[in-house]
Amino acid sequence: MFRRRSDSLIGLDIGSSSVKALQFSSDTGRLKLEHAALVGIESNGNWRDATAKAIHDAISQIGKYREVAASVAGPSVAVRHLRFPRLSPDELKGALWWEGAQVIPFDMEDVFTDFQVMGNRENETERLDVLFVAAAKQVVNDRISLLRECGLEPRVIDVDSLAILNCFLETVGIRGNGPVAILNIGARLTNLAIVNDNSTPFIRDIMTAGNDFSQAVAEAMDIPFPQAERLKTEEIRSIPSHAVDLMESKIRGLIEELTGSFKYYQAKEAGGEPKTVFLTGGTTGLPYLRSLISDELGLPVRLWNPLENAKIDHGEFDQPFIREIGPFMAVAAGLALRKNP
Ligand SMILES: Nc1ncnc2c1ncn2[C@@H]1O[C@H](COP(=O)(O)OP(=O)(O)OP(=O)(O)O)[C@@H](O)[C@H]1O
Ligand SMILES: [Mg+2]
Repeated sequence: MFRRRSDSLIGLDIGSSSVKALQFSSDTGRLKLEHAALVGIESNGNWRDATAKAIHDAISQIGKYREVAASVAGPSVAVRHLRFPRLSPDELKGALWWEGAQVIPFDMEDVFTDFQVMGNRENETERLDVLFVAAAKQVVNDRISLLRECGLEPRVIDVDSLAILNCFLETVGIRGNGPVAILNIGARLTNLAIVNDNSTPFIRDIMTAGNDFSQAVAEAMDIPFPQAERLKTEEIRSIPSHAVDLMESKIRGLIEELTGSFKYYQAKEAGGEPKTVFLTGGTTGLPYLRSLISDELGLPVRLWNPLENAKIDHGEFDQPFIREIGPFMAVAAGLALRKNP
């Protein structure tokens, strides 16, 4: 059914290096890209002001819409799989409070929580699988106040990795080819989701990403971070081999974290090893990242542009623009798919 524009939210991804804003409409059941903006955060030491400016710029490119879906990520967020016997909704609420307190690294008083009951596997109707989400109140409230200061109305606050997963399941899907691992490598962190048909996803943020790779270049070459960042993104061939080696050792560190997570998924979720890795995020611009991850993990790695299956008016967005911004857009696209409550 055709969804009026005012019913669809702007997906607003406030990353540490840039702000992404995106809006879809649903045209005869197929997602159509209406608006997309990607604005770098030019921090002069005051990250909040610079971010507010980038939000203003991104939203002004989108139009007059004010209602947004935004997200949080990183160490102040925990997503856990909890398992219960069949319980009534009231019993479940109580059980979640006690069980949640055992598995998250925060005090329950300091977090907002949410949960989703997942579909049961066949023959296991006596069991309840729940995806439990906790996010630090302070971080969520900060995000909400930043958005309101920018004149926006946050209608949904989601979690980066769940937004990415949502986008992947709606636009690509698993279709018997799972488990798959979806990896969004940004500037500050890497979002990981491992998922299979009819099972509870495994979600984790790894605090290694593009900034660490630039920092490695800065250290090895004894140059300031912004200069290393520019070399990494624009003149990778001019980086000397000893700096490339240090950067690669950081990437291998990230891959070790992935291997650990894959093993955990196999052991705890009895889910098997991921068959394919889908790679997205700004850092996929690193030319050899994909082959390095594929070689080290011994798995096929596919670059995933979350806009590849959307309907796109090429009079409005040309192909190179979509190719260029696509890898940055997975969180914003997943957020834009959320329903306006
Ligand atoms: N061509 C390129 N080659 C290598 N790295 C790139 C390239 N273009 C962008 N990057 C890196 O991508 C990262 C930004 O990606 P992204 O926009 O996904 O992160 P973010 O959402 O702002 O950050 P986070 O979510 O981690 O806070 C930066 O580290 C940047 O250096
Ligand atoms: Mg990001």
